[in-house]
Amino acid sequence: MRIFITGGAGFIGSRLAQKLAGAHQVTAFDNLLPQVHDGNPENQDRLTACGAELIVGDVRDAEALNAAIAAAKPDVIYHLAAETGTGQSFDLPVRYNGVNVMGTAHLIEAVREVGTVKRIIVAGSRSVYGEGAHHTADGALVVAPERKVSDMEAGDFLCRTRDGAPLTPVATNADCPVAPASVYASTKLMQEYLLGQAFWGTDVQVGTLRLQNVFGPGQSLNNPYTGVLSIFSRQIQEGATLNIYEDGTITRDFVHVDDVAQAFAMMGTVDVMPSDILDIGSGEPTTIIDIAQMLLGLFDQPTDKFTVTGKFRPGDIRYAVADISRAKEQLGWTPQIPLSEGLRQLAEWSARELAAETA
Ligand SMILES: NC(=O)c1ccc[n+]([C@@H]2O[C@H](COP(=O)([O-])OP(=O)(O)OC[C@H]3O[C@@H](n4cnc5c(N)ncnc54)[C@H](O)[C@@H]3O)[C@@H](O)[C@H]2O)c1
Repeated sequence: MRIFITGGAGFIGSRLAQKLAGAHQVTAFDNLLPQVHDGNPENQDRLTACGAELIVGDVRDAEALNAAIAAAKPDVIYHLAAETGTGQSFDLPVRYNGVNVMGTAHLIEAVREVGTVKRIIVAGSRSVYGEGAHHTADGALVVAPERKVSDMEAGDFLCRTRDGAPLTPVATNADCPVAPASVYASTKLMQEYLLGQAFWGTDVQVGTLRLQNVFGPGQSLNNPYTGVLSIFSRQIQEGATLNIYEDGTITRDFVHVDDVAQAFAMMGTVDVMPSDILDIGSGEPTTIIDIAQMLLGLFDQPTDKFTVTGKFRPGDIRYAVADISRAKEQLGWTPQIPLSEGLRQLAEWSARELAAETA
């Protein structure tokens, strides 16, 4: 098949290209965003090594995108190009909408124009759930409302009902109503909506994978806006004491980039693609304190070299864990790489990268 990956030079996109290039003709379209690529040529090198073609272009440039898709005549498109920083998105709403929303609109028109595309798979984000699924004290399943600034200023970081009753978080799946809590999350939801609406009732199938926190070797160590584990890896090796937000028990679902690339590869190549939105994560909750301690240990640092600051950020949600049962049942996908192994790989890779940087 002919495969086209927007954002194909990125952290996830380049791994996906590598997985597919042996059996398929792969074209990556990527503007090599400096914030992501400066000082981090590894993902681009991976593309070259696997024989994928790289077209340097911007999804905001309709002409360039049309020309690239017209030349590639793809059967399958993966849409991964995006601005990805939750915090940064509050400061740069025009840029985030321009790339994530308008870029997707340009993609839709290019797909209509070329007429070869049978399947589009978009990299969705669990951020569209906001605080996500929770149980009330009597066991009812609800979506937690946004937390109140006044509660958090008082050091209370729990998710609560509007009446103030505490809620218990549970793994979230796509049955959970969406409630994006950041500009980034809103743009990611818009990508899903636009693609679903534009191709409704046509022969073009649209698939969505909503990703949790993807980590692993290759995630930029220089981008201060994304990838908490890459950021921690650099800070630990620079001798810093890690600052941990809220009370330290913010919880995330860390999934290895190879497992995520495998899920994408399967979505694009299975005979019958699941039409449900699939949640992709490890399915395992890990607190930020726990992950910080694991990483500190891997770098032979005291495992208490962190400060719990009590500070909080807009758009940060409290608890994120995926219910991955649909991905298992409908796609036959299960994550293979344990967190401990993934962290070991990340620590080794980032040590090599930083040593090369200072050499
Ligand atoms: N990494 C995660 O934890 C995570 C979680 C949820 C969703 N996602 C989604 O997965 C996708 C890939 O993320 P990633 O982690 O590989 O990030 P990444 O930043 O490494 O990859 C994104 C790629 O898109 C490119 N890009 C950015 N703006 C572009 C533009 N205007 N035109 C063309 N290319 C552009 C960048 O240069 C980069 O190579 C994104 O859509 C992201 O929203 C990632």
